[in-house]
Amino acid sequence: MTTPAASTTPAAGPIGVFDSGYGGLTILRQIRQYLPRYDYLYLGDNARAPYGPRSFEVVYEYTLQAVEALFARGCRLVILACNTASAKALRTIQQNDLARIDPSRRVLGVIRPTVEAIGALTRTRHVGLLATAGTVNSGSYTLEIHKLFPDITVTGLACPMWVPLVENYEFDSPGADYFVRKRIEGILRLDPQIDALILGCTHYPLLMSKIVKYTPPGVRIIPQGEYVAASLTDYLRRHPEMEAACSQGGTCRYLTTENADKFRESAALFMHERVEVESIVL
Ligand code: DGL
Repeated sequence: MTTPAASTTPAAGPIGVFDSGYGGLTILRQIRQYLPRYDYLYLGDNARAPYGPRSFEVVYEYTLQAVEALFARGCRLVILACNTASAKALRTIQQNDLARIDPSRRVLGVIRPTVEAIGALTRTRHVGLLATAGTVNSGSYTLEIHKLFPDITVTGLACPMWVPLVENYEFDSPGADYFVRKRIEGILRLDPQIDALILGCTHYPLLMSKIVKYTPPGVRIIPQGEYVAASLTDYLRRHPEMEAACSQGGTCRYLTTENADKFRESAALFMHERVEVESIVL
C-alpha cells in the first residue's frame, strides 16, 4: 500500500464576504447572481455595527479580526463588502498583514470597482457621495476618482442615521422617510449640478425605495453591487490561481457576531431565501 504524497496546494475554500452588518448582503446577492457556482461564507459583525463613526484604528482592528476569522474557516479570497472597512483597513491589510498571515491569500474591497464605473455614469461631471462619516472623511473616494477622472467634482455627505435604520429593521418606517429625504435634499443643495449619486455604503440599497422616492428624476442613483460583481468576475478570469482556490459547490453560509436567530430572520428577508447561520466571537 502506498502513502499518498503530501500536497503543497492548500484546499480550495469559499469566497469570504465581510461587512459590519447586513449591508454586505446587497453585494453578496449580486456576486452570487454573477458567479453562482462558487461557495460563499458571509460574516456580519452585527454586534459591533455601525463601523461608520469609529476611528481608523478600531475599524482596522475589527476588520483584520474578521478577515482572519474567514481565513481560519478556509477562505483564500475575502471581499470587504463594506466601504468603511475598504477605506480604513484594506490598504494596510493588503500591504502589511497578508505578507505575515499568508501571501497567497487575497483581500479585495468595494471602492475601486465603483470608482472605475463612475466616469461613464455622469454627464455634468458632478458626482455626489452618500456614505458613512468614516468613508466620507477618509477622502478615499475623492482621491480614487481623481486618479482616474480628474475632471469630476465630488461632493460627499455622511448619513449617520441610515445604517442604524437598516440594522434596527426600520428601513421601511416613517423615520426612514425623514432621514433619507433630509440627506438627499442636503447633498443636492451642496451641489445642485450633481447628476449621479454614489451609494457609498453597502447598507444603503436596503433603503432603495425611500432613496428613489426622494431623488429627483435626472439624478442617477448608483448602488455598488453590480460593479463589484462584474469586477470580481473579471478578477477571477485574470487570476486563474485564485479562481482555482475558490471551491465550487454553489453553497452559501452565514456567520454573525450577534444572535443567530435575529440574523437568520433579517437576512432571510433581505436575501429572499432561508439562510444557515452560526454565531461566532471575534
Ligand atoms: N456597510 C458598511 C459600509 O459600506 C458599513 C456601515 C457601518 O457599519 O457604519 O460602509
